[in-house]
Amino acid sequence: MEMDVMKAMRLDKFLCAVCGCTRSEAKKMVRQGRVLAAGETVKKPEQKVVPGQDEVTLDGKELKYREYEYLMLNKPKGVVTATRDSREQTVMDLIPEVHKKGMFPVGRLDKDTEGLLLITNDGELGHRLLSPKHHVTKRYSVTVTGQIGRAQQEVFESGMDIGDEKPLKPARLKILKSGEVSEAEVFITEGRFHQIKRMFEAVGSQVLKLKRLSMGPLLLDPELLPGQSRELTEEEIRCLKENQC
Ligand code: URA
Repeated sequence: MEMDVMKAMRLDKFLCAVCGCTRSEAKKMVRQGRVLAAGETVKKPEQKVVPGQDEVTLDGKELKYREYEYLMLNKPKGVVTATRDSREQTVMDLIPEVHKKGMFPVGRLDKDTEGLLLITNDGELGHRLLSPKHHVTKRYSVTVTGQIGRAQQEVFESGMDIGDEKPLKPARLKILKSGEVSEAEVFITEGRFHQIKRMFEAVGSQVLKLKRLSMGPLLLDPELLPGQSRELTEEEIRCLKENQC
């Protein structure tokens, strides 16, 4: 097959991008004969490969090149959603080193909020998921003080005023248990500052526990313990890009 000159890149650069290694580590792997491209042992780190077209293996295992990376983190309580912070532990401290370059969390969960956080370097997707124009639904599980019922549901559905310039878009409140302490799921399409806490405050309740369960078609993997992350599957990426599944 003819080399696609436009997409070709140096093998050592390819290795750095896929394995998260340094250029000198990549060169060493090549010199050690551990890297094959299209079934042939590569001798020179500057040899060109076409990502997504040429099969490249390291120690017999195929290396998959992705232009963009997508990670799902089950954010635990107590860490801040930021790329860096001088004092606090951030969500980026929880993901493996190889995934750090150029990655950012899509949206913000409060320090005491748990659950689904997407971390990517795909700026276009990140922007679309957050833009209010695209109405991506986020589902949260919530535990609050006090009883909740039809009255609260109607307020949420009406597009509440929580003191911002504009009222909120209509939200859905699915009540799971009502009592001294109540449990529910909340569906919102925006991401305003402390939005769910402020919504409950406005109807006389206080949020005791908040966890994000989904973002558009992306569901928090129940196998992930708080603090654990994994790469999205091809199917999850496709669903997110099309905002349906
Ligand atoms: N709403 C909140 O109040 N906090 C969050 O972290 C997310 C939504």
